[in-house]
Amino acid sequence: MTDIRALAPDWWIDAVTYQVYPRSFADSDGDGTGDLPGVTARLAYLAELGVDAVWLSPFYRSPLHDAGYDVSDYRDVDPRFGTLADVDVLLARAEELGLAVVIDLVPNHTSSEHPWFQAALAAGRGSPERARYLFRDGRGKDGELPPNNWRSGFGGPGWTRVTEPDGSPGQWYLHLFDVTQPDLDWTNPEVAAEFEAVLRFWLDRGVAGFRVDVAHGLVKTPGLPDLTHTREELADLPTNAAPMWDQDGVQEIYTAWRRVLDGYGPPTRILCAEAWVTPPERMARYVRPGQMHQSFGFDFLSSPWEPRALRRVVDASLESMSAVGAPVTWVLSNHDVVRHASRLGFPQPVGPAGGIRAHDPQPDPVLGLRRARAATTLMLALPGAAYLYQGEELGLPEHTTLPDEVRDDPVWLRSGHTEAGRDGARVPLPWVADAPGFGFSPTGRTWLPQPEAYRDHAADAQSGVLGSTLELYRSLLRLRREFRLGRGELVWASTPRSTVLDLRNGDVRVVVNLGSRPVDLGPDADVLVASGPLTRNGRLPRDTAAWLRAGTSPRRPA
Ligand code: NOJ
Ligand code: MG
Repeated sequence: MTDIRALAPDWWIDAVTYQVYPRSFADSDGDGTGDLPGVTARLAYLAELGVDAVWLSPFYRSPLHDAGYDVSDYRDVDPRFGTLADVDVLLARAEELGLAVVIDLVPNHTSSEHPWFQAALAAGRGSPERARYLFRDGRGKDGELPPNNWRSGFGGPGWTRVTEPDGSPGQWYLHLFDVTQPDLDWTNPEVAAEFEAVLRFWLDRGVAGFRVDVAHGLVKTPGLPDLTHTREELADLPTNAAPMWDQDGVQEIYTAWRRVLDGYGPPTRILCAEAWVTPPERMARYVRPGQMHQSFGFDFLSSPWEPRALRRVVDASLESMSAVGAPVTWVLSNHDVVRHASRLGFPQPVGPAGGIRAHDPQPDPVLGLRRARAATTLMLALPGAAYLYQGEELGLPEHTTLPDEVRDDPVWLRSGHTEAGRDGARVPLPWVADAPGFGFSPTGRTWLPQPEAYRDHAADAQSGVLGSTLELYRSLLRLRREFRLGRGELVWASTPRSTVLDLRNGDVRVVVNLGSRPVDLGPDADVLVASGPLTRNGRLPRDTAAWLRAGTSPRRPA
């Protein structure tokens, strides 16, 4: 079992964690699907990049109907990704390199192939097997209507009717996501006990914590009442106005988990919430003392590329998190959203939330990358923790012209082919410009096709190349560590109305130009790193960010 005692006790507070999406990171056996040995082989690259930790998206046994977020065995590895022994090798290598490893935990639902769900189908109405899930009788004369009006987050109804063991049309089960992802009933103590055991299984192996999938979904309003608000109304209401999201009871679950984790530290084993929750005060509930450690700051990810909005969201995030004594957990990209190098490449300040198809308006790759580099330069200067998504350090754009027939995301299917889904953010990484499959796999096979544009983004084409995105990330991460920016404090120097974000964090001044004219950085500007080249006379062009050595006193607005 891996010993992670070498990590700093509170490593997570300012950690930069790199999200590995195992399916698309690196393939070792040539089948075109990334795998754990592929990850292990590239851990040195991540250490060299300068991150502190790695989060692995699910590698559990799974039919991969939702890319592994549909788990059929929480204590085993899917053969496509490797074996438990491969996990041990990965953890040992990470330990050698001083990297913490966080894994994904999927507690809201199992796969419909999980033995529990199979047993629930076989056991029939009223059985203890069914009581682990949310089976209900239907409405209508013969139970032919779903128990309530909830919809699946991937489109379509949130309920599916089963056929009873005797062949009659039967009960319905709830699935907030795909029909192959039945929701568990978290009021059932057996469910809680099982997940505590799963936590221990992986903690005993040496993981440093868990990213908790759909952390805001586990508890539903008792009685499962109809959703009474329209989609438009919900957009303006706190998330918990919907009976399936952010219900007060979820925190009790995490209090119990926290006790389990605390039994393993130091160093601290962490919980990070994936909770798409507003307003920020509600989100802060997930990271109150005795709860989780981190909760993704999705407001920052969703912010328009616009100075006032960015400033507002940075302030609101810092304020709501510091009110409960937690760091902000910044993030700009993950496997569920359009990569920020493409999301920011549209003329309007808010890019598309869903995927992009070939006939949709296309992002401007140059504008997108320029802004993405500036956005990351801002993010990594902010106090708190941060997550990076694999490939963003290469400036990877979204694959926006994937052929529809290769799409694999259940969103594409369940939306009746109206929403592209998330495959464009999940394309296998380019490692080597001049190799088949850009070096993703020894055979050149890739489970999704890569766009030609990935050639220029390949890691080997950027490593050691001054001005490349990879070298920018390496510099940012090195300087962030050197200046302890994650532990710092933010002081604004610009006024809220300015088109320039000008702030100070300790000995570093950060300037982001979101206006149209180049900005004069002052006579003794000592630029530590910039997201792009300065103008010939040393000014900061639009959509560019720079870190400067701060003067002895912070510049305050006049
Ligand atoms: C959030 C995960 O990040 C996403 O990929 C998944 O589809 C849903 N949760 C359901 O598990
Ligand atoms: Mg493979």
